[in-house]
Amino acid sequence: MSARADEIFEQHFEDIHLPDLAGRIGERLRGSGVVTLDGLKARAQVLDLVRMLMTILPQCDSDPDGLTVIRDTGRHAGQVGFAGFGNGEILPHTERSGVARPPRLMLLACARPADTGGECVLVDGQAVHADLAAHNREALDALSARRSAFFGGGDGHLGSVFSEVGNGRVALRFRQDALARFSPEASPHVSTLRAAIERHRGELRLASGEAFLIDNHRWLHARRAFTGLRRLHRALGIPLPAVALPPGFEAKGRKACAA
Ligand SMILES: [Fe+2]
Repeated sequence: MSARADEIFEQHFEDIHLPDLAGRIGERLRGSGVVTLDGLKARAQVLDLVRMLMTILPQCDSDPDGLTVIRDTGRHAGQVGFAGFGNGEILPHTERSGVARPPRLMLLACARPADTGGECVLVDGQAVHADLAAHNREALDALSARRSAFFGGGDGHLGSVFSEVGNGRVALRFRQDALARFSPEASPHVSTLRAAIERHRGELRLASGEAFLIDNHRWLHARRAFTGLRRLHRALGIPLPAVALPPGFEAKGRKACAA
């Protein structure tokens, strides 16, 4: 890999050519919840890796092999829920927040970078949770209360931003577009949550062939606006045994509210 300034990329990098790749990736996912990779420019390379790690969950926008090509189609500008297929900024969110069981893993591999902009943003939900636990317990409790957030369209999911999943662990779901609604108790605290998310954001500019894999129940992702023919391959899926994960992430600091 060429020398680069992206701290996140360097910090979480695993070489796909070294032995026990699935074992190393599983360890990273159970630890930090994120892995960065390269050598994944071609669709076949992405598929080979993805099939080693997850059962792919096909989406309505994916191709027959289960991968979705993320690009500006020129046809989705302004359509709620389809921001990924435009070229505008997308605020930090977890993927598929409107379904009962969001996919645990998301891999995004760059086939072609943008001409300008298009940086990926990653935010560790564990750090956001710990930040709120330490500095704004009231906000954390409101955002952890049952039935405090609704994500998606008419058949969306009624739940909460932070959900206790047992053993002191928490799962995260969040979005910031028109498909997010909050209870009167949670609503005043959403700006506090957004501010905490901003405090923990990191950016990476993926070059062709570079990728990140995240625990989608822990990490938020986002994108800066861009110009050019930016193109990425996305896979969503359920971890195979080699990269098995316990539910959610460990809640650091004070215990989350079980209300
Ligand atoms: Fe997304």
